[in-house]
Amino acid sequence: MFTTEKLELKDFYLLEEFQIAYLPGWIPEREFAVALWANPSIEDFLKRKCPVITDFINRIKKENEPIKDNNELAICIKKVLQTCSDILIYNKCPEVYDKLEFHNWDFKEITSITSLDAKIILDGGSGTGHVALEAAKYARYVFAMEPVTRLRQFIKEKAKKLKTDNVYVIDGFLHSIPLPDNFIDVLITSHALGWQLKDELMEFERVVKNEGYIIHCPATVDNPSDQSTHNELLKYSYSFDKYKEADGWKRKYWKKVIKRR
Ligand SMILES: C[S@@+](CC[C@H](N)C(=O)[O-])C[C@H]1O[C@@H](n2cnc3c(N)ncnc32)[C@H](O)[C@@H]1O
Repeated sequence: MFTTEKLELKDFYLLEEFQIAYLPGWIPEREFAVALWANPSIEDFLKRKCPVITDFINRIKKENEPIKDNNELAICIKKVLQTCSDILIYNKCPEVYDKLEFHNWDFKEITSITSLDAKIILDGGSGTGHVALEAAKYARYVFAMEPVTRLRQFIKEKAKKLKTDNVYVIDGFLHSIPLPDNFIDVLITSHALGWQLKDELMEFERVVKNEGYIIHCPATVDNPSDQSTHNELLKYSYSFDKYKEADGWKRKYWKKVIKRR
């Protein structure tokens, strides 16, 4: 999604514990091992900050020898930076993420599902706060929930510049939302769903009021590779539709929460 010009391996020092925990299964193992062989202080940092990653790092280093050729090393580091560019950019320069064209989708995709007027809204995985700040134009108040410290600061700075005073920025995860039961009228996620999908879907039902709405817009790209998320959402009785963003077709999902008394 991003060019790696602005990034260097030292930017791994900016990562938070939960982001480091996401690396196994996603980061290219040989290239990462080679990069760590050449940068032991980064390996030490990652293991101290996120001890659960220790076994993974030890294994990939055992399976992959260090390399001496500097050109080959540079290619490996570039691949690692490319793979992790999203999370590194969030922590290093959120303003770059904030300017990406894909944010320019029509907010009516949400307001055509339900009105946000005078409601209590939660934007989960808020990023740089696009949805939260747009929702704030209609809502009574909006909770922008984001686990990355730098992004929370960014949302606060942006809200201040826009003179928006009904956005409350909070730390939290989709599977563990620091809000009471039956508190939210409309819960929205955009490009942020599925780290722990089943737990997240149950948590959404907990915080949303009876007759409130849960909207995931966009939730997934419109292709069969996201079929397991799609199937899980249908099991939870979500409706879905497709719409176009700057980078292609996306699916949105929504449901009205009905709680038995
Ligand atoms: C692709 S960005 C989307 C940001 C924003 N919603 C948007 O549409 O631009 C995903 C966001 O979710 C956050 N995130 C990552 N894991 C999360 C989790 N388990 N719970 C909540 N947010 C998470 C990331 O830090 C990042 O800001």
